[in-house]
Amino acid sequence: MISHVLPTYNRAPLAFDRGEGAWAIATDGTRYLDLGSGIAVNVLGHAHPDLVAALTEQAGRIWHVSNLYQIPQQERLADLLVEATFADTVFFTNSGTEAAELAIKMVRRYWHDRGEDRTEILTFEGAFHGRSTGAIAAAGSEKMVKGFGPLMPGFRQLPWDDIEALSAAMGPHTAAVMLEPVQGEGGIRPMADADLRQIRALCDRTGALLVLDEVQCGMGRTGRLFTHEYAGIEPDIMMVAKGIGGGFPLGAVLATEEAASGMVAGTHGSTYGGNPLACAVGARVMQIVADDAFLAEVNRKAALFRQKLEGLVAAHPTVFEGVRGQGLMLGLKCRAAPADLVAAGYAQHILTVPAADSTLRLLPPLNIGDDEIAEAVARLDRAAASLDA
Ligand SMILES: Cc1ncc(COP(=O)(O)O)c(C=O)c1O
Repeated sequence: MISHVLPTYNRAPLAFDRGEGAWAIATDGTRYLDLGSGIAVNVLGHAHPDLVAALTEQAGRIWHVSNLYQIPQQERLADLLVEATFADTVFFTNSGTEAAELAIKMVRRYWHDRGEDRTEILTFEGAFHGRSTGAIAAAGSEKMVKGFGPLMPGFRQLPWDDIEALSAAMGPHTAAVMLEPVQGEGGIRPMADADLRQIRALCDRTGALLVLDEVQCGMGRTGRLFTHEYAGIEPDIMMVAKGIGGGFPLGAVLATEEAASGMVAGTHGSTYGGNPLACAVGARVMQIVADDAFLAEVNRKAALFRQKLEGLVAAHPTVFEGVRGQGLMLGLKCRAAPADLVAAGYAQHILTVPAADSTLRLLPPLNIGDDEIAEAVARLDRAAASLDA
């Protein structure tokens, strides 16, 4: 008989009752060191006192009003995002997938309003933009699209980080290029800064819009507020979610005034998007994360973690191949199956996340302590040793 919860996930037999910082405490009281952060969501760990205060303070006032009215909390968060980024304007969603949907609509509308027949959005193999019909068509992976056709037209996937192939594919029909600066689900695969600059230049030359998906790699995860800052470029449109709500469902599309010019009243909407609860929490997350001293600490911890992980890889050459990633978006390229390592981690009371390309993802809260980094590596060492054997 089918489970009452639609069985689209292979869930671990673990349930959590509460959390404290980098620790998730299971219903049986066991403390797990959480290096998954709910898949790169809990940027400030569990039950951060400032976020609890922001949420409960707002919960005692008003939860939801709809976008038929002004929402001061939403305007405040939009102000913070615009001040901190390339963007002139922001639309709030409840998830990364919804951000992808709007990004695609924004691109299409932009070219429609210019009377140009540009309908092709170029994406990359290994991409992940969500699970809606539009987002699976954009990423185009066999695993996600099988059985869900006919797919939404207008996307073409190109080899990852192959600038020549991209250059050859771009032309007067190209509406946009859409990519994650660091592929997350695809296996923690960063696009080189020089290649991001080339992509920006190709977009400038052909007029195509550049859409960056920073749903997983954004919000301080890689040590800058947004990863594209490392390359010194700016997108036209950017998708954000996960970390921006610190665990409360929230996403956003950031855009320049020019790229957003087609999105006039009536062209898009969301009942919940940008509600007072989500935006009260999001504003607090932004105040903490979009801070040079906080991001400097992320980078210091990332260097420490990476150095220890290099030692772990060297100690277990039959289990691991190498370390990849940027900041605290780290991946261990595995010789063993990542799912086996995740399971071995459960036995050592550490939570990690598998990804494609034989990669184990380590996505700790950005405020993880040095002692917790050392503890995580000790637990990963024991998990790897159990597979060595
Ligand atoms: C890069 C990227 N884009 C989009 C999404 C979809 O976000 P959500 O699951 O919030 O819809 C994800 C989720 O993993 C992601 O990693």
